[in-house]
Amino acid sequence: MRVLARVGVGPLCSAARAVIPWFWRGKYFSSGRESAENQVTPMLRHLMYKIKATGPITVAEYMKEVLTNPAKLLGIWFISEWMATGRNAAFQLVELGPGRGTLLGDILRVFSQLGSVLKNCDISIHLVEVSEKLSEIQALTLTEEKVPLELNPGSPAYMKGVTKSGIPISWYRDLQDVPKGYSFYLAHEFFDVLPVHKFQKTPQGWREVFIDIDPQASDKLRFVLAPCVTPAEVFIQSDETRDHVEVCPEAGVIIQELSQRIALTGGAALIADYGHDGTKTDTFRGFCGHKLHDVLIAPGTADLTADVDFSYLRRMAEGKVASLGPIKQQTFLKNMGIDVRLKRLHGGSHPMNACQSKPSPSPVAGFGELAWR
Ligand SMILES: C[S@@+](CC[C@H](N)C(=O)[O-])C[C@H]1O[C@@H](n2cnc3c(N)ncnc32)[C@H](O)[C@@H]1O
Repeated sequence: MRVLARVGVGPLCSAARAVIPWFWRGKYFSSGRESAENQVTPMLRHLMYKIKATGPITVAEYMKEVLTNPAKLLGIWFISEWMATGRNAAFQLVELGPGRGTLLGDILRVFSQLGSVLKNCDISIHLVEVSEKLSEIQALTLTEEKVPLELNPGSPAYMKGVTKSGIPISWYRDLQDVPKGYSFYLAHEFFDVLPVHKFQKTPQGWREVFIDIDPQASDKLRFVLAPCVTPAEVFIQSDETRDHVEVCPEAGVIIQELSQRIALTGGAALIADYGHDGTKTDTFRGFCGHKLHDVLIAPGTADLTADVDFSYLRRMAEGKVASLGPIKQQTFLKNMGIDVRLKRLHGGSHPMNACQSKPSPSPVAGFGELAWR
């Protein structure tokens, strides 16, 4: 997994990319709705998934997992970016494709834990989600209730509610509908589910890959090459050296909108995904229950994904905002200087936050609290 950070205002921040094995897909962050009594923390559930998928883990791996849980660190990253860019009186946290809402739930827990730092900041949450089913699940995860569809036809949001910690939250079908304002954007495993066009280099030039009925078996599909040039070819770079490429025009449109918004109103975006920097070729894959699945067999039963080409995203943002990365998640965490950031966040004046049962002897112990809860 890789992360690309874009920054509109303030000093350039660190960016990251995480190398997370494919079998963690969709299972990294657990529901986060467990009761305190049964002690099944989101981290425990995550570790269970991992062990079930790949077998027992080493103590070193266990420590790394627990201490560097990205969800918590992302929460801290947003807060420290907000501080670094001048502690605006208000900010919007905008997530693209929140899935089940568990990552955001973890981030909001960090916001609550560091409530003393954010107490004078007016925060609102804005979710861009096309799936009605998932938006219902997100509402249950984040507000603990069913949020009704918005009846006001003039409202850009299709659902509005309040999170468990009292933050206003709204849902939109398109990024363009989110109110313009100083915002932090998060896209985690979002861009890799957007549809790609695939092209193969042939002696006649680029030919798009199509899906056709297999003449040998009428209930089967197969890949074929288009006989002539197709419109999406315009998305291929003229100096492209690979012989097979995947292009994602929708990602380009979203990145351009996102960059324009950051350039206009300020803020930053963090994009974390499985991806490459313009080097990979055929990455279109299906996953069913943690396992690789033939993309053309039993369509509708597997998740389809294609690695994100970060070099393309960078090109789409060029001239509007500064972009950093992609880099590995490990590098991101190291660059973040997590201990230093926590020292800054705590400012030495709040040894105990609202959710801690006992005072933290040091900022690093404070991080321990965040990571273990
Ligand atoms: C793989 S899930 C992301 C998981 C989540 N971000 C997480 O970290 O757990 C992809 C999400 O993007 C949403 N999605 C897919 N295409 C979208 C689009 N064009 N606009 C908005 N959301 C979209 C899906 O419904 C889903 O919520």
